[in-house]
Formats: sequence, structure tokens, C-alpha cells
Amino acid sequence: MSQVDEVKRALDIVQVVGETVDLDTRSRTPKANCPFHAERTPSFVLFPDSQSWRCFGACSTGGDVISFIMKRDDIDFREALQRAAKSAGIELDNRESERRAAASPLIDANEIALGYFWTQLRSAAGNDAQEYLAGRGIDMDAARRRDMGLAPSGMDTLTGHLKTSNISGKAAAGAGLVVQSADGGWRDMFKGRLTIAIRDAEGRVVGFGGRSLDGSEPKYLNTSRTELFDKSRILYGLNWAEKNIRSTRIVVVVEGYMDVIAAHEHGFENVVASMGTAITAEQVAQVANMADTVILSLDSDSAGQEATLNSLETVWGAFGTSSGGAGRRSTLEIKIANLESGKDPDEAIRNSPNEWQEALNNALPLLRWLMDAYTKRFDPKTVAGKSSITEKLFPLIAAVENPYEQDRYLSELAERLEITVEQLRSNASQIRTTRMRRQNQRRIPVARSDGGMELVQSGGTASLEEHLINLVVAYPDLSEFADDLPEELFHDVQNQALFTLWRTSDTIDKLRTSLTPDLEERLDQITGRELPPADQPNRVADISECVRRLHERHLRLLKSQDERVLEEMASLDEVDQTRELVDENVLKTNDRLKNLFARQR
Ligand code: UTP
Ligand code: MN
Repeated sequence: MSQVDEVKRALDIVQVVGETVDLDTRSRTPKANCPFHAERTPSFVLFPDSQSWRCFGACSTGGDVISFIMKRDDIDFREALQRAAKSAGIELDNRESERRAAASPLIDANEIALGYFWTQLRSAAGNDAQEYLAGRGIDMDAARRRDMGLAPSGMDTLTGHLKTSNISGKAAAGAGLVVQSADGGWRDMFKGRLTIAIRDAEGRVVGFGGRSLDGSEPKYLNTSRTELFDKSRILYGLNWAEKNIRSTRIVVVVEGYMDVIAAHEHGFENVVASMGTAITAEQVAQVANMADTVILSLDSDSAGQEATLNSLETVWGAFGTSSGGAGRRSTLEIKIANLESGKDPDEAIRNSPNEWQEALNNALPLLRWLMDAYTKRFDPKTVAGKSSITEKLFPLIAAVENPYEQDRYLSELAERLEITVEQLRSNASQIRTTRMRRQNQRRIPVARSDGGMELVQSGGTASLEEHLINLVVAYPDLSEFADDLPEELFHDVQNQALFTLWRTSDTIDKLRTSLTPDLEERLDQITGRELPPADQPNRVADISECVRRLHERHLRLLKSQDERVLEEMASLDEVDQTRELVDENVLKTNDRLKNLFARQR
């Protein structure tokens, strides 16, 4: 039994509601004036059998004991579950704290390693490295501040030091500090390199970057992927930058360790690094709530590169458009700062902090920058070039929500292509049709119209909800089809909470960080189920069908509740205004059901 079920089982909805609501318990379906809106006629009804509640009046909504607490106290699922557990006298176990406990030996190992590397850098063995740093404008105070060190090349090893510091082999290997060599022995991961400790946002040392000092390749060797360290998720420097990012609402993203270090040493305190890889949506998501503006400072040589363009398109897709109806998208403005060619931020800052500040001030909005990049990459004079540029940029412009802004971009693009806006629009729609036709042709062999739903039908009613969640999580581009779904269509409170949290999360990772252990387990269960292969139109059909069936099921539930209440009232011989309300409801529910079926035909 899940913890949620356990908590729910331990509570009685009548008692919980009764604590704050004056219930009329004469009937087996207790009634009250709805606590969620002002009214004179009681329209708020409890169903002890199913441990659920419903307001037949203005809010016309309902749920279970946890959703009641959520609404009553205006809190989220996690907190409501905690409060419910507390009054049920149940201790929620916290896998998060277990995870942390499991991670701590690795962190300890890293902290010891950091101390060791620092000692080495300070010692005579570190003379050359110190000189190298001095040449890059970093004295020993700065090196200390920035967690630098030296992994020696001689006989002295970190492996040995970790052993004498009582760090287990398992922790040392788990942290990626030592690796097993072919002969089965253990050796240091970093040898003869300048080390830079990488901390996560909370300041825990999660990994290291090691720069070669003698020109050997690779230039930087990084901790490989470990329990703690995933390069694509970490923003280097966030531990130093977070405060300033929050106060200025601007975050500057550079590519390298040394760029971050130079920036912070020169007072640019809102700078973080994507660590070489093109920026990922996961990285942006981490700062999305701290800032309103992200300025990406790109090396000028990366401007026309396919990988950079692709990643920027992804970032734009996830964050560039302003807030949608359900508030799922954040209003993050993304800008690009271009540096004078051949310089990276480290050099630029040390050369002239003012100039760098200038470059940041002059950063271009991403879409405008992409316009430049694509009109450079393809030739806007040729027909093929016009078509490629349109294919890339039109969808991005179409996603701009502000209509005036959108118009401006369209005219600008048309101008650059030397065509009219009308021609641009018609070209774009032609490209779309051809692309769709191409896709359909390619996918016919796997296309299936029924598979997805069969899967759902065999799984019963909870899996209808779960199938929908699986679909929207797996295909974020289809989220709009479920975006404005009323959450009470989800009758399982955990599914409902997942769905609501999903709607307010920008990414799956964000969603995960907001989950209770219970919900996380449920999400894993759901996303662990394989979705049948299907192309876009079939997925849309699948989602729409789920939505329709959830509506139908919900209306049937309402209908049975209506009937229940009517029965109870008849037996009590009650003729009052509540009765009229319920009567009205019965008619409304019937109409909605009829509509649903009419639409289906
Ligand atoms: P750069 O090559 O721009 O290095 O790579 P840099 O930071 O300017 O380094 P210096 O100034 O030459 O010392 C940018 C980032 O890409 C990652 C590192 O995070 C680096 O900071 N990188 C680069 C690697 O992980 N491995 C490499 O071999 C190179
Ligand atoms: Mn550099």
C-alpha cells in the first residue's frame, strides 16, 4: 500500500471536514454550506462510502480528503499529505533524506580530495602550477577562493591519501576519484593536472575538472558521470552566483571554468558555466525561477555551428515563448552576447571588464540572434536558402505570443528574404504541408490507429489517467492537448497531484524535484510503461481519446453521486433548496453527458 493510501485509510473524511466545517449529519451523506464559497443553501456534500466530497453549488468541484485539505489550507499536495499524515499519526518516510545519506560518503571523499589537491598546489610540488596560474591572473588567494588545486604527477597519490583518511574504496570509486586499471589495481583519476572543484548549487563538492598543464589532451578531464555528478545538469559556479542572480534577476552563462572564475574575481557575480557543452534545457531550468533574463555569452566561433543552433532552438522551445494559459512556460528572456572574435570571456574580462559589460548590455534577443545566424548560414538570395531559413525561423516566430512582437519579427524576416510577409506566410505553410506528407509516407509501416487505446482499456480506469500522464510527460510538444484539463477528472489523488504538478513544471526534472517519494514512485511506475509506437497524429488521437474518456467517466461519477444524494433526500422527506440545487445538477450532468456523446459521433 502506498503511503498516500495508508494516510487516507487512517483518516475519516467526515471527521476531518467536521473539524472546520459545521456539518449537518442527519443524512448518510452529510451536508454543509460550502466552505469554499459564500452561500446560504448547503451544497457541500460528503460521501463517507467513497470518502469523497463534492460541492454541488458554485464551485462544482470535489475530491478526497487530501484534496480537501489542499483547498482548505491553500497548500500543495506535498504539504497536504504531510498535514494529513500528522493528524493520522503516520510518519512519512523520506527517501530524499536516504538519498542524501547515501550520497554523503561520496561528498566526504570529494572534500578530502579537495583538501589534498590544495595542499599539493601550495607545496613545492606546486611551483609550476602556481606560476601557470599567476600567468593567468590568479594568485593563491583567488585559487583558494575558487577551490583550485593540483593533482600531482609523482609518487604521491590521492588514492593513498584517501586510504589513510579512512575513505572507503567504494566511496572513492563512487565519487570518480579513483579508477581501476587493467591489472585490477586502483589509480588516481587525475594525474599531473590543475584541479578545479565543481560544487552544486548547495555548495557540495560533486566533481572535479582537471586541466592539463603540459598541453596534453584532453585539455580538461572531468569527473565521469557518478551518482553526484552529471555534467549536462550542473551549472558551474551557481553556488557563488545564486544570490546575485536572484537580486539582479539576470544570469550570464559562459562556457568554461576559467571564464566563471575570471568573472567572479572581477566582480561579475551572476556568471555560471555550461561547461563546454551547448547549453541544455535542464541547465536553463535550474535558473529559470531565479532570473528573468538569461544572457548566453557564446564564443564567436560557435555561432554558426549546428550543435549550438540546435541547442538554442531547444532552449527557445522550452523557455523562449512567454507564459501560456496554465502558466507552464516561464517568461524567461534569452539573449545572446557576442564577443569580439577569438576571445573568450576570461580573456575579455581580464583585458577590459568594461568592454565585457558593454557586450552584455548589447546582448541580442535570441530570436533576433538566430535570424542573423541563419541568414548567415544559408543564402537568403537563393530560393533554396529562403526556404531553409523560413523552415527554421517561421515556427519560432509563430510561437511568439505577443502578436505585435510576432508581426515585427515576420516583417523583419520577410525584409531579409526580400519577399512580402504574405509570400513568407504562404511559403511557410507550403513547407509545413510537404514536411507532414514526407513524415506520413515514412511512417506508414508503424502507424496504428487503435493500439494505444486497447492498451488503456485493458488496464482499467486508473490506468486511463496514468496513460494520459505517460503521454504528456513523454511528448511535451503535445501538452497543449491536456493543458486545460480540469484536474478533478483525475479521481486518483496521486495522479491528480502528478498532473497538477506537471502542469506547473517546465521540465520533467523540475517535476521530479517537486515530488514526494510516493509521487516519484508513481511517476516511475507510469513512465516505466512502454508507449506503443505511433506517429504524431496517432498520439494526438490517443491523448484526445484519453481526455474524452476521462470526461465521460467523471460525468458518470457525478451522475451516480447525484442519484445517491437524491435517494437520501427522498428517504428523509426533505424538500428544500438543496434539493433544487441537486435537481439542477442532475439535469446539467445529463446534458454534459449527451454533449459528450454527440461530439463523439
Ligand atoms: P574551452 O576550451 O573554452 O576551455 O572549453 P576554457 O574554459 O576556455 O579553458 P582555458 O581557458 O583554455 O583553460 C570550455 C569548457 O569546456 C569543457 C570545460 O568545462 C571547459 O571549461 N571542456 C573543454 C572539457 O570538459 N574538456 C575539454 O577537453 C575541453
Ligand atoms: Mn579560456
